[in-house]
Amino acid sequence: MGAVIIGSGKALPQLEIANDELKAVVDTNDEWIRTRTGISTRHISVGESAQELAYAASCAAMGLTGDLFPQTTSTGWCAQPIDPESIDLVLYATVSPDVVVPSCAALLKRHLNLPNAVAMDLNAACTGFIYGLTTAEAMLAASNASNGGAVRNPIKRALVVGVDRLSRLTDWDDRNTCVLFGDGAGAAVLEWDAERPGLLATYLRNDDDVKNSLTCAHAIEAPQPFTESGISAEAKADPDASLAAADEMLGIGDIVAEGGIRQVIRMDGRTIFKFASNAMADAVGEVLSRAGLALDDIDCIVPHQANERIIRFAAKKLGIPEERFQLSIADTGNTSSASVPMALADAYASGRIKPGDKVIAVAFGGGLTSGAVLFEA
Ligand code: COA
Repeated sequence: MGAVIIGSGKALPQLEIANDELKAVVDTNDEWIRTRTGISTRHISVGESAQELAYAASCAAMGLTGDLFPQTTSTGWCAQPIDPESIDLVLYATVSPDVVVPSCAALLKRHLNLPNAVAMDLNAACTGFIYGLTTAEAMLAASNASNGGAVRNPIKRALVVGVDRLSRLTDWDDRNTCVLFGDGAGAAVLEWDAERPGLLATYLRNDDDVKNSLTCAHAIEAPQPFTESGISAEAKADPDASLAAADEMLGIGDIVAEGGIRQVIRMDGRTIFKFASNAMADAVGEVLSRAGLALDDIDCIVPHQANERIIRFAAKKLGIPEERFQLSIADTGNTSSASVPMALADAYASGRIKPGDKVIAVAFGGGLTSGAVLFEA
């Protein structure tokens, strides 16, 4: 028995921006971006909200012809159309929520008409979908296994979504970061199956990012009528002192004080590159050992699509051919929480993942988070 993936979908915004088009905002070129990252083009949502993308990806994963947001295109695979009433849990991984209350997951539950689901958001940066799958599997297992503990919500099917609009968090004047990112959404449906094994092992990790090598501050905007000595209506015009404290935590106090944008992604590319290649190889090794399997047993690895060179480096470290990895980065760029579920949807939709295959999904990101999930399709 176990949690089996029965549907997988993705959605991309309409607008596509090729590498050379970025010359309009920064000093860059197609050759540099392609050879250093493997990215040729990325999709940017201008009209579409993240919610619309998440809705379209979820419809594709559930085999529904959702027409609430008809302008968004999606593709996917599902074993058979999934009844919205059968979804008991929605987990929505994102670092770029459209709204804070209700949760984006609650909005998605409403738009998809999932009357029986409970819903919540989670943020584990680019590893969000792996954290989501792991959490959903744990809730499915706890709900369906009779191993004591609390009496829990009955959960038979879970919808796990990863969606981000990194374009809204990108500094479009910074060529070191802006060429890397794009927008999109991916989704998967997990079902508890009494016969099939589904997820065989999961592994999550969090290394402290003591050097602030990958950050994005949050600009909370509601005016505060408080000073350290009490409440005053005039204080609403003052800058929020707690924001300065948060800026210091991320090491961007001076930048913001000098007029720099607060809420953009800042990254030490070389440090992240090194962390990422090692973290990916380590996470693959950990899930294999937890499942008692060897690399030769694995048919396909679906990695976080941040940089093709990171994937190549990890393949070399693991001693396996690059062809074993699903590569989807060329026309998406790094889409953070959406990256793994979109690549998974590509692998399912193209027939690369077949029933019975053993697959590893693996990711890394801000936090510094990393993790992997090993499953039988
Ligand atoms: N176009 C043209 N030149 C660029 C450029 C761009 N978009 N961005 C940087 N350069 C230049 C740099 O200024 C530098 O020039 P210099 O040598 O004259 O100073 C040169 O290219 C090399 O820069 P460097 O940073 O050493 O390149 P790199 O090979 O390390 O690649 C990244 C940079 C960002 C692609 C790479 O470090 C990376 O992918 N890091 C991990 C990022 C990541 O995965 N983040 C998300 C984690 S979830």
